[in-house]
Amino acid sequence: MSTTDFNGATKVAVVYYSGTGNVHKLATAAAEAAEKAGAETRLRRVPEYVNESLAPQFTEWTEAWAENAEAMKDVPTAGVDDLEWADVILLGSPGRFGLIAAPLKHFIDLAWPLNARRGLVNKVMSSFTSTGSQHGGQEGTILSLNNVFYHWGAIIVPPGVTDDIQMAPSNGNPYGVSSVSGRQAVPGRLAENVTEDNLAALAYQTRRMIEIATALRHGFAAAR
Ligand SMILES: Cc1cc2nc3c(=O)[nH]c(=O)nc-3n(C[C@H](O)[C@H](O)[C@H](O)COP(=O)(O)O)c2cc1C
Repeated sequence: MSTTDFNGATKVAVVYYSGTGNVHKLATAAAEAAEKAGAETRLRRVPEYVNESLAPQFTEWTEAWAENAEAMKDVPTAGVDDLEWADVILLGSPGRFGLIAAPLKHFIDLAWPLNARRGLVNKVMSSFTSTGSQHGGQEGTILSLNNVFYHWGAIIVPPGVTDDIQMAPSNGNPYGVSSVSGRQAVPGRLAENVTEDNLAALAYQTRRMIEIATALRHGFAAAR
């Protein structure tokens, strides 16, 4: 969070990587919620870092991956300057073996110089994920993202169980909103298991972060 600019709308960056569309759908909902809440908003995707499918023999997955690349092509790619600009940062990644997807991790590593000059301190952050199964490592993925936030000196604002939407059957992860995709890396049916309740929960998580960040900005201004 900027310590010099207390004027204007709170700035939100939603930065994500998505292989087959689930996280893309969640990220888009977060950005829409931020816009609706009056925040200045940047939706940014972290690009794929391989030129061909990770597993060409999985034909349906590969086709879904290509379809998602086409669907996301108009989303601007993320730069470290987007992190510097924002008061609120939401990072989204599919769970891959319970960890951050590699392209997003690479992007995070690029923020090293910004972190070194303490450019991420006191920004409000949290994360979200999508996994293939409910017990496939959502918390592991979220916590690996949140671990980065500790290093950056961020103020982590998780959804917790602070609103009824978190109690909906397809929600319930207090660490960060998480969807379960199942076997949905299917061309023509991308992200169809992301529920309306998942999207509403992510909108809630985003609004909660904006509320806290806005209060902090005013608080820091008053404390100067
Ligand atoms: C390399 C790789 C590793 C994965 N590891 C996990 C995992 O550990 N647990 C899980 O539930 N799903 C796992 N998945 C499935 C994805 O998390 C799931 O399909 C997710 O919804 C994809 O999000 P996306 O459509 O935004 O890429 C993995 C998928 C890939 C390609």
